[in-house]
Amino acid sequence: MSLAIDFQSVSVVRDGATILDSVTWQVDSSERWVVIGPNGAGKTTLLQVAASHEYPTSGSATIIGDTLGQCDVNELRPRIGFASTALARLIPNDETVLDAVMTAAWAVTGRWTEEYEEIDERRARRVLSEWSLEHLADRRFGSLSDGEQKRVQIARAVMTDPELLLLDEPAASLDLGAREELVGLLSGYATMSSAPAMVMVTHHVEEIPEGFTHALVLKDGAVFAQGPLDQVITDTVLSGAFGISLEVSRANGRISARGTR
Ligand SMILES: Nc1ncnc2c1ncn2[C@@H]1O[C@H](COP(=O)(O)OP(=O)(O)O)[C@@H](O)[C@H]1O
Ligand SMILES: [Mg+2]
Repeated sequence: MSLAIDFQSVSVVRDGATILDSVTWQVDSSERWVVIGPNGAGKTTLLQVAASHEYPTSGSATIIGDTLGQCDVNELRPRIGFASTALARLIPNDETVLDAVMTAAWAVTGRWTEEYEEIDERRARRVLSEWSLEHLADRRFGSLSDGEQKRVQIARAVMTDPELLLLDEPAASLDLGAREELVGLLSGYATMSSAPAMVMVTHHVEEIPEGFTHALVLKDGAVFAQGPLDQVITDTVLSGAFGISLEVSRANGRISARGTR
């Protein structure tokens, strides 16, 4: 057992507001977690701490063995793959898909004067094919559909072979077809034995890919429930977290939820 994430009483306070409230949470390297909770629950902030982009105000956050505040984040960050809408905005629209993924090797967005090795390009092309993007390698990032852009962001995040992969709402704003394609790819990735520890934030239980093992439910910045997926994604927990009576059902490894009448 080796821990990818070890949060002990992590709190984040901004401008006097408690955004994360004493979160204690451990993610083993073999686990794939989904983080769910209402808008404003603190999911993105939790991921930003896990990505070493933000420090806890109190408590301790250890990420793949390095404790924030006691390590060089410039050495830690390349070991973490992170995809979010905020990071995607940094990819120039006129960048080719191949470059958008390859620049991850240098932890930059926007190709400039870095020297890329053949091995970077080979790896980028392999990652593109893993995410069904190989036919788009020479297209401009800005010309892709939302679904394709999301897959490029994830391909970029896995380009460096991270030890921890963090995805903030990767399926948000996708149409049904694009969502299902992405969930299928994520499921394939999550079930690979070589896959890193994964944490995916989502609003919808329908977006939880098969192969995910655990869930953390946040409410008002605090842990509302956490543990193995089947024990956490239940009528009682989701109804409590979202403040409305919900009914959860499962079929073929996927989950759905709807309000009860
Ligand atoms: N500087 C700030 N001061 C006060 N509240 C903030 C500040 N920044 C963010 N928040 C609040 O923190 C809460 C959690 O934000 P976030 O982590 O983005 O939640 P989520 O991703 O679950 O929607 C939100 O309610 C947001 O309004
Ligand atoms: Mg968010």
